[in-house]
This record gives sequence, C-alpha cells and structure tokens, in this order.
Amino acid sequence: MGTFDDTYRRSIDDPIGFWGDAARLIDWTRPPNQVLDTSELPFVHWFPDGELNTCYNALDRHVESGRGGVAALIYDSPLTQTVRRYTYAEFRDQTAQVAGALRALGVNKGDSVIIYMPMVPETVMAMLACARIGAVHSVVFGGFAAPELAARIDDAKPKVVLSASCGIEPTRVIPYKPILDEAVRLAVHKPECSVILQRPQDRAVLQGTDLDWEATVSAASGVDCVSVKATDPLYILYTSGTTAGPKGVVRDNGGHAVALAWSMANVYDVHPGDVYWAASDVGWVVGHSYIVYAPLLAGVTTVLYEGKPVGTPDAGAFWRVIEEHQVNTLFCAPTAFRAIKKEDPEGKYKRLRDTSCLRALFLAGERLDSPTYEWARDLLSVPVIDHWWQTETGWPIVANCLGIEPKPVKPGSPTQPVPGFEVLVVDGSGNSVTPGIEGEIVVRHPLPPGTLTTLHNAGERFVEEYFARHPGFYLTGDGGHFDEDGYLWVMGRIDDVINVAGHRLSTGAIEEVVARHPAVAECAVIGIVDSLKGQVPIGLVVLKAGVEIDPEVLRSDLTQAVRESIGAVASFRNVQVVPRLPKTRSGKILRATMRAIADGRDYTVPSTIEDPTALDDITRIISPEALNTVV
Ligand code: COA
Ligand code: AMP
Repeated sequence: MGTFDDTYRRSIDDPIGFWGDAARLIDWTRPPNQVLDTSELPFVHWFPDGELNTCYNALDRHVESGRGGVAALIYDSPLTQTVRRYTYAEFRDQTAQVAGALRALGVNKGDSVIIYMPMVPETVMAMLACARIGAVHSVVFGGFAAPELAARIDDAKPKVVLSASCGIEPTRVIPYKPILDEAVRLAVHKPECSVILQRPQDRAVLQGTDLDWEATVSAASGVDCVSVKATDPLYILYTSGTTAGPKGVVRDNGGHAVALAWSMANVYDVHPGDVYWAASDVGWVVGHSYIVYAPLLAGVTTVLYEGKPVGTPDAGAFWRVIEEHQVNTLFCAPTAFRAIKKEDPEGKYKRLRDTSCLRALFLAGERLDSPTYEWARDLLSVPVIDHWWQTETGWPIVANCLGIEPKPVKPGSPTQPVPGFEVLVVDGSGNSVTPGIEGEIVVRHPLPPGTLTTLHNAGERFVEEYFARHPGFYLTGDGGHFDEDGYLWVMGRIDDVINVAGHRLSTGAIEEVVARHPAVAECAVIGIVDSLKGQVPIGLVVLKAGVEIDPEVLRSDLTQAVRESIGAVASFRNVQVVPRLPKTRSGKILRATMRAIADGRDYTVPSTIEDPTALDDITRIISPEALNTVV
C-alpha cells in the first residue's frame, strides 16, 4: 500500500480495481467476476455474482487456518461480575448450535429474526447464527420501549424473536419479557415464537409460544454455513430519521464483509493477534460493525463489555478492562470520556493501571469537543482519533487512517475522507463550495461497499431521503466545511436528528409523543447542548388556550410518556412552556433557526418570519449562553 494520498486517489479513480483487490481479504464460495453493478442507480450492487457466508468468514475460516485456539471474544461484565473467554473454535461451535436451533424452528435463508437482547455473548452468537443460515437479523437496542420494538417487529416481520429475561443497568435490573410481550401485543405481525435466554438476575415466566433458550439450543445440532449471494441482506438495523417512523438500513453480505475487513487494517491499524474493544452496544451500528463483524472478520479478539464507563464500580472501569485484557485499540463515544473526566478529572484511577498495551483511541458517534480531546490525549499519551460515520455507511466516511499513513491531528476535525468516499460540501443548489464555507456534506454516488443498499420495505424513501436533494450524491444529513488542507469539519445535523450520549434519536418522534398530551396545542423538540451527553432534547410547548396546568405536572407527564413510548435513552426531562413558537408567516415552525441558536451557530433571521420577538424568547431558553454550557 502506498501513501495515503495514493491510496485515496486510486479508490476514487479506479474503484473497481481497488475494491476488487480488497475482495481478496474474504473467502468466497464463488469469487465475484464483477465488482460493481450500477445499472439500477441509485441502487448499487457490489460483487453481484459473488457468493460467500459472513459467519464462515468471521469464525470458521480462522479455525480452519489453525487459529481455533485464539480468543475470539472476551465477555467482561462488571454488572454481573463475570469474565468469560471464548476461543474461535468454541465460538464457532456454539454459534453453529444456535444456528441449528433456529433452523429447527423453521428459520431459513431470507427469513428475518429480531434480536432484542442485552450485551451478552449469546447476542453475538445469535447475530452470527442468522448469518450462518442466511437469515436476516435485526437487533433492537435494549433501551427502546415496547412501541419502538413493536414498530420494528411490524416492519421486519420476524419469524422468531430472540430475547433475554432482563438487561442490567448499574442501578436496576430491567425485565425485558414484559416489554417484549407488550410489543408483540401492539404489533400487527405476530412472530411464531420467542426464545428467551434466562438470566439469574431476573428469570422470566415463559408461556404460550415462548421457548427457553438453554433447552432449545442444547437440543439442537450444529449446522454448517450456507452460501448466500453477496447482494443478499445480512441485516436490517433501524435508525432514526427526520420523520417519526424508524428506517431500516439494509446491509448486504459481500460488500459489508470486504469493507469491514479492509477498514480494520487500514483505518484502525488492527491485525490478527490484536485485542480490539468497541465500548458501544450491539444495538447500535458501532456494535454491529466493530464489536461483532469487523474484528471477527479480521481474526482479531473482540471485547464485549456489559457496563458503563463510570460507576461499574468506579471511574477506573475502562482502565481495568484495558489492563486485564491487554486491549490494543479502544473505540467509544466522546460522551464516555466526558463521563470519566467528570468523575475523575485528575485521572487518578488511570494511574492505578498499566495501560501501556493501548496503541490508539478512536472516538465517534458525536462531535468531539476540544477539551475532551485534549484531556484524553494527555491522559493516555496515544493517538486520539476522531472519526465520522453513520448507521447508513456502516464504517467511517472521514478518519485519520492509522493503517495507511497517520496525518497530523487537528482537534475538532475527523481529518480527511477515507478511501472509497468522495466527500463534497455543497450549497443548497448542489454547487461545491470553497474551503472555509459551510454547507451540506454529501458523498458522490456510488458509495463504497459496506454502505446501505436500501431501506427495508421503503425503496422510495431511500431514494427520496438520500438522493433526491442532490441527484448523484448521497445526502449525509450533516453540515460542515473543508479547510485549506482538505480536512473536514463536521458541525452538526442539518435535519431533525439529535445525538444523545451517542444515541441517535429523531426529535420528530419525541414531538409526536409530546403533542398527544391533552394540554399541548403545539410543540417543538430541539437538541440543546449538554456538558455530559453532548445533546439532550428539550420540549418547547405551547399550551391550549385557557388550559392551566402546573408546569411540574406537565413535565412529569411528558417525561413518563416519552419513556414509555420511545425509551429511557431519550433522556427527555426538560420541558418549557412558551407563549408561542417562532414561525414563518405561512405558519411553518422555524426549526433550522432554532437548531442554529441551540448549537450556538451564526444564523440570519428569515425574512419570512411572522414575529421576530418569538426568537428572543427561545434564545433565552435554548442558547448555549443561556444554558451556561461550554462545549
Ligand atoms: N436497556 C435499558 N435501559 C437502558 C439501556 C439498555 N440497554 N441503556 C441505557 N438505558 C437507560 C439508562 O438506564 C438510563 O435510564 P435512566 O434515565 O432511568 O437513568 C437512560 O436509558 C439513559 O441512558 P444513558 O444514555 O446510557 O445515560 P447514563 O446517564 O446512564 O450514562 C453515559 C451516560 C455517558 C455514561 C452513557 O450514555 C455512555 O456510556 N454512553 C456511550 C454511548 C455509546 O456507546 N454510544 C454508541 C456510539 S459509539
Ligand atoms: P449514528 O447513525 O447513530 O451513528 O449517528 C450518525 C450521526 O452522528 C452523524 O450523522 C453525525 O451527526 C454524528 N456523528 C458521528 N460521528 C461524528 C463525529 N466524529 N463528529 C461529528 N458528528 C458525528
């Protein structure tokens, strides 16, 4: 591999040669003759005539090449005081048995399976077991409430649901079974059965079509990998868009395996024998790509951590895991480091541990603020790499590619576009803007392999949301600018998506819940700056004429409603009653202007505004100065 610039240039000028070479990182049952099919743009098909099995590439091939005794996964759960190691051979055998159980339940190639499970090894086995038999998994994050789970059941139409009796948070055990039961009751589609992993912290009562995980899996025989088309779906992962309904990002098998294997070596500089820890949750894209698939495809040891950065038991949790498991590369969200810094600003817990095994820290999921960057860099004395990506892309769009050629770090910028992604900043008419000028960040289509192929059951929405605004380009939904050195500066979303502690949420979905309250005439939900979580939602509420309600009662009602409809992860606690919302003369709420105020960005008052003083009221509530928060 040449220098970064050479590698990048080749990926853009000759994507077929570039990704055709990268395809050699994967074992194919039928090697592809064709690298890219663009005959149905904006739908693209990578390696259209190739066949493979993703689970085989993640597990079996490492065993067959003599690395069966190497650790595949280390499960570390301070919440249950458990540490368990699985070799590649053990993990393959247990996964094959889960796959056998699914097959015995009638799950076949192309069927979908919902996985609503906590951070336990069985969740990873469940994902890979689906891949093994060509079934399509859809993992739902455990922090979502029943209506969100029901919406995903109705869209994915799973034959079977795999779940557990409970999840564990530092302060409480969360029974999953009542949430699952309620979701199945709410859903129109009824799965044939649910297989429940009983955890001793809270055993579930099984009834009707429920099956016990242990009994079901132990009665099954292991099954082999089936060959699937490179273009067959591997999984659906739902993410928040600007409108209320979640959108199901569809990932294929072939392009995904090639891109993730390539990224492990070239972006992260991680290789077989290394220990890699993505401190995320398998319910998010970071968990899919960098807890499960990429490290295992690359034959690396992955750490599955069930706990928080602080309070499990203290602010030294991360340093213990790094020392005990000899972690070489850590990946987490900046919010995790803000949480540690808040509890242990001097880094005294860090000094109790030998973390010299650590080579790099990668951060993503939200904007990396300079104070957090500097604190992490000084504490760890290793490269701290901000990188930018999305559920849709599945792997980094912009990063400092340590495996090719490290670039100087500019705090606040995730560095330069990764090979495969031709990133541009454009104005509202789609014209490229000059360095230093803010605009909409887009990526020239076709996107590289590993990125979304469509939205499940929503091909039109896929075209409309990502390709209609600037034909020929993928709209990322983020705004920012390039500098003179070609570094990208990502400034924030240009739509109604917010990032709360690295969790992506739709303000539109929260608004729908708030608007249902009988006292509410209209509302807007905006993300405001939060010193720990980056952003948290605030509900700006206009009451119905003549309605009187104690603001504390309203706040408590709305908080509870959002917890029950969306989930605790929304961290929705802040409600402000306002006399009116800023609007245009035609009655459109000025959300973009409010977002700019909340982010502390410059903005021009739209000439169509109905009453400019409405903005003053809002600024007094949501601006960073008003909140007195420094980011
Ligand atoms: N199941 C059920 N509930 C969950 C949950 C899960 N899997 N995950 C979170 N929740 C609940 C929490 O218990 C909390 O409930 P509460 O309001 O009753 O206290 C709420 O959802 C918010 O959780 P969280 O956002 O995790 O906030 P926190 O205050 O508990 O912890 C951080 C704050 C910063 C430590 C934590 O958010 C963190 O580690 N974030 C990193 C996120 C991440 O990895 N993102 C992926 C991108 S890399
Ligand atoms: P998700 O799909 O949950 O991964 O969220 C993707 C969104 O998170 C992006 O569109 C950005 O708004 C934000 N994001 C992720 N990584 C970064 C980063 N390094 N810098 C700024 N924003 C980021």
